[in-house]
Amino acid sequence: MSPVHRPWEDAADFSIGLRPIAPEAWLEGGEADPAPRKDALLASAGDLVWAEVVASREGQSEVLELVEAALGPGEPRRDLPPLLAAARRTPDDLCLMEKTQGAWRLTALSLSAGTFFTASEVVGKSLAELHGPVNGFSERLLTRVQRIFEGLRPDLVLERRNWTVVNSTELHTPDPAPIRARIGEIDLRDAGQALQIRVERQTLRRLPRTGGAVFTIRVHLAPLASLADRPERLAAFARAWRSATPEFRTYKRFDLYDGLVDAFLASASCG
Ligand code: HEM
Repeated sequence: MSPVHRPWEDAADFSIGLRPIAPEAWLEGGEADPAPRKDALLASAGDLVWAEVVASREGQSEVLELVEAALGPGEPRRDLPPLLAAARRTPDDLCLMEKTQGAWRLTALSLSAGTFFTASEVVGKSLAELHGPVNGFSERLLTRVQRIFEGLRPDLVLERRNWTVVNSTELHTPDPAPIRARIGEIDLRDAGQALQIRVERQTLRRLPRTGGAVFTIRVHLAPLASLADRPERLAAFARAWRSATPEFRTYKRFDLYDGLVDAFLASASCG
């Protein structure tokens, strides 16, 4: 089945791409009980998937309130930091952003599906620092993103999506190195199944009481081959792959996948 979110049909370059959605659509759902998956990761991966700064507990509690307002009250977990209790209720990863020392900073996060970063390395960072590795972010996007955080109205829920291609079916991918080391083992004929389109659906909303904001990240994976049943969708992906800007391609290491994607597109177009 073709992926639900197809952001490559909108852009093959870095973009803000935030659009308002209905508040009821804030959390997509779709995973019956994310708690066991997240609990197991917390037990085995600890600070790769959870981090907080001490002063963030009030903001965390407000995120839990919003999640409970959206999903209904859950079993109280006063033994857990409130953001962690909230994250166990939803498939999405939850990031608390608060303005401290003049900058919007990431003050707590539950990150069970990180795309090549870890909770402990990003906690406390400002928007500028978080996006340091993204080519051109500070010149092209940072000021606008900061303004969006400043102007976020409490009744507004914003959504954006991004995409990349990876050879991993794992949601929890803190480190690209072991994944990329396996690219050479993939047979060209298996590229459509071995390569996954990795889409992040992200949302942003204000925390009206404490003044912070909650940023959610939900990862969806689908094999490239899932595009093959709809010729127009296959063609749209091929266009995006071939027209992606050099900065976008470099950041996402598309060069490592070019041969495999070309082989997949050639076989799917003839099939
Ligand atoms: C809401 C406005 C935001 C915009 C427009 C934005 C935009 C981007 C873009 C364009 C990228 C490059 C990957 C891609 O999306 O194609 C990126 C990467 C990233 N963003 Fe954001 N972002 C936003 C908010 C946030 C927030 C609130 C966090 C806090 C967790 C965050 C954390 C990151 C991280 C950790 C990366 C990966 C950087 C790396 O490669 O090390 N972003 N963002």
